[in-house]
Formats: sequence, structure tokens, C-alpha cells
Amino acid sequence: MSEAAPNPADTYSVTAEFYDFMATPYWAQVDPLLPALLAEVDTMAGPLLDIGAGTGLSTVAIADALPEAEIVAVEPSAAMRAVLMSRLAARKDLRERITVESTGFFDAQLPNSCAAVVGLGVLGHFDAAARSRLWSRIVGILVDAGTAVIEVQQPYQVVAIPARRYTRAAAGRLRYEGWSEAIPIDDRSLTWRMSYYTLRDEIRIAEHVTEHRVWPVTPDAVVAEAASVGLVAEPSTGTGLLRFTKKSNHR
Ligand SMILES: C[S@@+](CC[C@H](N)C(=O)[O-])C[C@H]1O[C@@H](n2cnc3c(N)ncnc32)[C@H](O)[C@@H]1O
Repeated sequence: MSEAAPNPADTYSVTAEFYDFMATPYWAQVDPLLPALLAEVDTMAGPLLDIGAGTGLSTVAIADALPEAEIVAVEPSAAMRAVLMSRLAARKDLRERITVESTGFFDAQLPNSCAAVVGLGVLGHFDAAARSRLWSRIVGILVDAGTAVIEVQQPYQVVAIPARRYTRAAAGRLRYEGWSEAIPIDDRSLTWRMSYYTLRDEIRIAEHVTEHRVWPVTPDAVVAEAASVGLVAEPSTGTGLLRFTKKSNHR
């Protein structure tokens, strides 16, 4: 039995409370794309893996796109996982076929054969060395002709991006705003400083701030990295969502 200790480096512990509200505009774009991206997946060949499942928005989108599929959701943040578990508690059809692994990807106990691997909003958390391990692990668990759908997030280079409000939402008498600011750390990584404001009558009454470190990478570099392990990219949809197919007999 492994001991589940809280992770003090979990920058998503602040994000979790606001994540779904703030991600709604983004998910309105991604949700309709997933069924086509997963259309070739043979759900009889094994489960799908959702790397960095977060609060479960991606997991449920996969589950709804493929109602027969078994899914393994890997999510290390206890706070994000709490929302995911709440989603499962609310829907029997989901908890019958979704397993939640509560570690980071490299520590997770994964199925030997997966029909598909999905990673939305998570690739940036891996630096170049970790991405190399990630591709090897993905290709190692994918069945032949299996699908990988990986999101490459902007910015594709290390740049400073001034603070901007990227979304707003309301619940009852309160309003919420999500602000983001990119702050370069070095020539390979930056910090996304995320500020979540709560407003009553247009006055800020609470501010929650967290910082996520990311290692930007271009879609072209991702395509090349994946190709080196036998994952062949399909023409990009221009959305940052890349689909790969594992070449036969490549392990
Ligand atoms: C921006 S959220 C994306 C959540 C979800 N996939 C979505 O699209 O809404 C990124 C998630 O990746 C998780 N994460 C970060 N590092 C990870 C790792 N090494 N292995 C697995 N998940 C990781 C974070 O805890 C966070 O919940």
C-alpha cells in the first residue's frame, strides 16, 4: 500500500476551485472536436488513458464520445481529483468504466495495452527530457495503430505575456474572473501566473493566485519528437490538438 501524502508543489490546489468555471469557453471549442479525433479508436483493443485528467472535463468528454470505452484517468493533484471524483459519484455510467490513478504519469500504474492516449492541457508541464520519456512510455503502452491525441498549448516559445483577463463567469450574486500572465523563467520555461478574482457588486472581495511552470514547445517539434518513437502525426487541425497513430510493431 502506498502512502498518499499531500503534494506541497501542487500548484493546481488553488486552481481547482475555479477551473471548471474558467475553462468553459475553452471546452466549448474542444468538446465538439473530440468525437472526430477519437473516431478511429478501437475500444475493444484496450482502455483509453487520459493523462492529466484534471477535474475530469477531458475524461467525461472522452467517455461521452466513446460510450463503450474503459478509461484510466491519471491526475496527481488531490484538489483537481476531488472534482473528478465528484463527477464519477454523480454518474453511475462513468464510475463503472473510469479508473482514477492518483499519481503523476511516470509513477502511475498503467494498463499494458491502451487503445488510445489523450493529453489535453498537460504537455507543457513536461520539460524536454520528460517529454522524451513521455513519448517512449506512450508508444510502449499503445496498441498497434493506436491513437494519441495531444494538445500543444500556446505560447509555443518562451515569451512574456502581460496580465489579461481571459474569462469571466457568474454564480448567484458573485462574479468570477480569471487572469493569466506569462513570465519567462529562463530560455526554456515560463511561469503562468493565474489570478482568480471574486467580485461582489463589481468590487473584488477575494483573490487567489497560483503559478504553473511550463516548458513551451512548437507543434512542429512535438511532431518530430513523436515521430522519433513511431507516432505518425496527421495534418494539424490548426487548433493545437494533434492526432498521432502508432506505426505497427513499434515499441
Ligand atoms: C490544465 S489541466 C488540464 C486538465 C484536463 N485535461 C482538461 O483538459 O481540462 C493540467 C493537469 O495536468 C496535471 N498534471 C501536471 N503534471 C502531471 C504529470 N506529470 N502527470 C499527470 N498529470 C499531470 C495537473 O495536475 C492538472 O490537473
